[in-house]
Amino acid sequence: NQYQKGVIHLCDSGIKKVPNKYILPVIERPNRNGEEKKVENVNIKLPIIDFAALQGPNRSQVIKALGTACEEYGFFQVINHDIPHDMLHDLVDVVQRFFELPFEERAKYMLPDLRAPVRYGTSFNQNKDGVFCWRDFLKLMCHPLSDVLPSWPSSPVDLRETMVLYSKQTKIMFEILMDAVLESLGLASATVSDDEVDILKQCEEGSQLMVANCYPSCPEPDLTLGMPPHSDYGFLTLLLQGEAEGLQIQHKGKWLTVKPLQNSFVVNIGDHLEIFSNGRYKSVLHRVLVNSSKTRISVASLHSLSYNTTVRPCSKLINEANPRLYKDTDFASFIEYITTCEPKKKNFLESRK
Ligand code: SIN
Ligand code: FE2
Repeated sequence: NQYQKGVIHLCDSGIKKVPNKYILPVIERPNRNGEEKKVENVNIKLPIIDFAALQGPNRSQVIKALGTACEEYGFFQVINHDIPHDMLHDLVDVVQRFFELPFEERAKYMLPDLRAPVRYGTSFNQNKDGVFCWRDFLKLMCHPLSDVLPSWPSSPVDLRETMVLYSKQTKIMFEILMDAVLESLGLASATVSDDEVDILKQCEEGSQLMVANCYPSCPEPDLTLGMPPHSDYGFLTLLLQGEAEGLQIQHKGKWLTVKPLQNSFVVNIGDHLEIFSNGRYKSVLHRVLVNSSKTRISVASLHSLSYNTTVRPCSKLINEANPRLYKDTDFASFIEYITTCEPKKKNFLESRK
């Protein structure tokens, strides 16, 4: 049907109202927080992690701030990173031009196989969503690069080159952040444990998925969402937001908006890090609002272990006071599990123990 062709296609047809297929039940609509009265949009100031300082003489202070951010928010914002600003600009620009291609060109990548190295699609999970989300996306697997690259879109002509450069840079940034996160968990490099060596090595060889999102401007933004409440599956997600806001995170029972900060990254804890940290760091629910004036673009880079490895709580973080909370899970069945359950009902404490 026409909705399977995506929101960009729908908007190009000149609609003036949101079709029923996208209208959420009242209780799930944005700006309501489950209450009758409309509530004000509140912004959240995420903890800021200075990436340059992390690698300088004040590292221990930054590590401390990082640990607090992970524990209290599950999210932080990274500034002073070393990815050139031009590269970020070029990336958002090429993604935007991909979404502006004629439908037939984008549709070449509308593949049903969830494990396809490249996939264009719409909504959150278009095979099972009853109500659709106001989002189109392009997902690119990035590892191993030589295997996946030939299937990446050949148009726009600069897409592959731009994405390759960007994916390599974000991978390096991920590894540096992961090392810092492990240190913040007390798994310091000086007293290297097997768990730590293993996990860093596994991250190095692990999976990377790039998800470019397009949320077209929406005639009735209060009726729908760009993405439903969900948590990310991996260790860390590095998110680049364009200039338009939309990302909200759940914090102390409220939905709060993360205002885009130019040239910075929003980084969040994923399910696998929640499991590895035995629940000390939580994978926090987030969602995306749409707006009536601007199309929003974002690019998320999701990092985890390779698909054939097992995720389990780190033995160093289990003791009498902190009993083991999660059972072993292999990545493949984990993906199977999260693609079949409701995104916001993904509750490991109940279902994985
Ligand atoms: C995501 O949750 O993966 C994307 C968030 C966003 O578009 O800001
Ligand atoms: Fe997400």
